[in-house]
Amino acid sequence: KTLAIVGCPFSGGQPKAGVDQGPIHLVQAGLIPQLEDLGWKVIFDGHHQFEEINVAQDPPIGILKNPRMVSKVTKAVAQVVGEHASKGQIPVTLGGDHSLAMGTISGTLSKYPDACVVWIDAHADINTSETTESGNIHGMPVSFLLGLGSKVEEFSWVKPLLKPEQLVYIGLRDVDAGEKKILRDNNIKAFSMHEVDKYGIGKVVEMALDHVNPNRDKPIHLSFDVDALDPTVAPSTGTPVRGGLTFREGHYICEAIYETGLLVALDLMEVNPSLENEESVKQTVAVGCSLLRSALGETLL
Ligand code: ARG
Ligand code: MN
Ligand code: MN
Ligand code: MN
Repeated sequence: KTLAIVGCPFSGGQPKAGVDQGPIHLVQAGLIPQLEDLGWKVIFDGHHQFEEINVAQDPPIGILKNPRMVSKVTKAVAQVVGEHASKGQIPVTLGGDHSLAMGTISGTLSKYPDACVVWIDAHADINTSETTESGNIHGMPVSFLLGLGSKVEEFSWVKPLLKPEQLVYIGLRDVDAGEKKILRDNNIKAFSMHEVDKYGIGKVVEMALDHVNPNRDKPIHLSFDVDALDPTVAPSTGTPVRGGLTFREGHYICEAIYETGLLVALDLMEVNPSLENEESVKQTVAVGCSLLRSALGETLL
């Protein structure tokens, strides 16, 4: 029962400053003692120092922004997450922007090739270098993991280890046209907010797990983008989209994943303490900590 906190103060996958401070705020809010109270041994030897990763010149490749930086950082994260997983620890990665999931999921799959990924987000983050309109790599990590789109030499270290049937989304509501086509063409299972409204979150989580983990025997990597939550619940994030998950729906997902006993890795991404007011920041950081606690065994009774 050991967790390894992987603090990733990184913002290079998107343009807004401040998301690099997310992990610092989460830890300062008391995350580590909170997880220890749940009975975990928690390893944390400080946030990663990505300043050491020196990229003198990083002009766009096509329209992809900061490609060398993002590649180097996510590669380092893959290494660290893979090492923790190999020791039987659960890596808990605190972002930072969601491009980091290229690293975390690569790390998980290096140890558990049959792991499934449950991706909770307003966005699909599955743009390729052909479809991205923003050039922000936090909108692209899933396509790299699946090996979709034309290869970008800089990211050749990312092995396409994830198969479409190993992936499921919950919470989507801002999916670009190019991404919709990718989801359809590759038969990727996604439960948007429409399905959450229609079936309720309990049924949606059950259907999601039935898809990626029908026998409930495969390891699970949960990647949670805090913008999956409604902006009234988690306001301090770079790309908020209205009509999101309620506080309880978000927590229910985490509780249900914990209950499977199959969780091997966990990400919490896109908390940006520079956005909105002080109260919003406090609220978003607190909700981030509480989602993590729910995914790691906190129960209501
Ligand atoms: N689809 C948009 C893009 O490609 C938004 C992505 C937002 N991603 C995120 N991790 N918050 O830029
Ligand atoms: Mn998002
Ligand atoms: Mn959009
Ligand atoms: Mn995301």
